[in-house]
Order: sequence, then C-alpha cells, then structure tokens
Amino acid sequence: MGVALVTGAGRGQGRAQAVALAGLGLDVAACDLGHDLPTIPYPLASPEDLEETGRLVRELGRRCLVGLADAADLAAMRALAARAEAELGPVEVVVANAGVISFGRSWELEEAEWDEVIRADLRGAWVTCRATLPAMVSRRRGSVVLVGSAASLRGYPGIAHYAAAKHGLLGLMRTLALELAPFGLRVNCVLPGGVRTPMGTSAAMRGWLDAHPDAARALTAPLPVDLVEPDEVAAAVAWLASESARHVTGVALPVDAGVQLR
Ligand SMILES: NC(=O)c1ccc[n+]([C@@H]2O[C@H](COP(=O)([O-])OP(=O)(O)OC[C@H]3O[C@@H](n4cnc5c(N)ncnc54)[C@H](O)[C@@H]3O)[C@@H](O)[C@H]2O)c1
Repeated sequence: MGVALVTGAGRGQGRAQAVALAGLGLDVAACDLGHDLPTIPYPLASPEDLEETGRLVRELGRRCLVGLADAADLAAMRALAARAEAELGPVEVVVANAGVISFGRSWELEEAEWDEVIRADLRGAWVTCRATLPAMVSRRRGSVVLVGSAASLRGYPGIAHYAAAKHGLLGLMRTLALELAPFGLRVNCVLPGGVRTPMGTSAAMRGWLDAHPDAARALTAPLPVDLVEPDEVAAAVAWLASESARHVTGVALPVDAGVQLR
C-alpha cells in the first residue's frame, strides 16, 4: 500500500495516528522535533519516544522510517519527505499533527512565546504541506489531515497565540482543499477537545484550567468522558485520510465528546 508521513509522531496523538495508519496497511514516515523548546512549559518528546513509535508501527508488520525534524523547517521537512519517498515509496497521506502550547494573557505574552507557538502550530502545518504536496500533486493522489483544536473555532482566555494559530489552520485547510481539488487531493482538519496526552495532561495545562474556570467549563465535554483517548482521535484522522472518505474535503471535524455544543 502507500506511505503516510506524520509530524509530531514521537508520542501522544501523532504516535496513535502512526499506529492507526499502519493498521490501515500504510508504511509510515514518523518525525518529531525530539527536544524541548525554551518557552514551552512542559517537556516535548525525546528521540527514544520516536524510536518507540517506530517499534509499534513495525510490530504491526509495516515499515517505519523515523526522523528527527522540525515540522516548521522547510529544508528539514523536504529532506524527510525525500527520504520517505526513496526508502518507503510514494507518500499518499500527510498528517500535520505537531503542535505546542503555552499560556499567558495576550498583552503579557513575550514575543518568543508568541513566535514559538505560531511557528510550530501554523507555520509547521504549511511547511509540512509545502514539502510533501508537489510530489502528491504530480501523482494526483493523496490526502492531508491537519490537527486543529477546539480553539480553531473559539477563543479561550490565556491562549491567544494558540487560538490564532489553530484558527489559521482552518484558513490553510480550506484554501488547500480548493487548490488541490482539481488534482483529486483532499484536505481536512480534526478538532480535538481535551486529549489524554502529555500536552493535555501537563501540569501547565492543569494550571491554566485552574486559573480560568470559564475556559475549564467551556472545555468540559457534554458526553460523560473526561479526556478523549489519542487512538480515538487517530481513528477519525485515519478515516479522513482513507479512501472511505474519498468525497470528504474541506471539513473541520470536532472529535471532542461534544465540547463545541457548549
Ligand atoms: N492534548 C490535547 O488536549 C489537544 C487538544 C486539541 C488539540 N491538540 C493538538 O493535537 C496535536 C498533538 O498534540 P498532543 O496532544 O499529542 O501533544 P503532545 O505534546 O503529546 O505531542 C506533540 C508532539 O509534537 C512534537 N512537536 C512539537 N513541536 C514540533 C515541531 N516543531 N516539529 C516536530 N514535532 C514537534 C512534540 O515533541 C510531541 O511529540 C497538536 O497539534 C495539539 O495542538 C491537542
């Protein structure tokens, strides 16, 4: 079958997506930054975490190329895409999942805090597409999934940079969907609510929710679940990426136990 490229695949949702796509029969190019960032208030994935993702994919009988790469670095992502094509074959599925968050009121954020979130969450998605789409367009085959957030549709106090980046992803997704439709390529977005990952369960995230009870209430799911599991969001990503969703493009799909109903 084909090849999927997943960013932020060292752990959390990206790892679950790599495993779900392997379950569909795809080989996987899994990348992650593999180190912490100065303004991000929780540790990011390690190279060992990324190796573990590779092991889990191979355990399912699929091939996995793992590569340390910053999703927002075009040269690094081009190199990764070229390796994936050379070692695994034509990339047909791209999941721009890598993301980070930090916290602070809009008028108090430092420039570096703003830039680091916008870089990973918005620029990273465009760079991932920029590096992979030319080959997919030339083959007229493929599907892209961007990972947004409940904050793609709503503002929450204390995360203006994150909400701006995640709103921006929808503009990117809708534009790409129109540009790519004539070539038979599809682009969609999933919008998770709270997900049980190192980001979703970090002390920094808990501190933010404690400091902003209104945001905590707005993010409380109507369905009787606390946090959605990474593999439950990954199942939606895999479906959007698959041929089963061949007539679905330009969609922003909440997978959030009803948070958008609040
Ligand atoms: N966890 C939640 O509650 C939640 C909710 C809504 C949306 N999201 C989004 O889901 C996506 C996945 O997050 P997660 O919950 O799995 O968090 P996570 O922190 O567990 O995983 C994110 C991964 O991305 C990697 N990463 C960060 N910046 C990178 C970069 N520039 N290049 C490559 N890799 C990079 C990290 O090392 C980490 O492995 C993110 O886009 C996040 O914004 C998460």
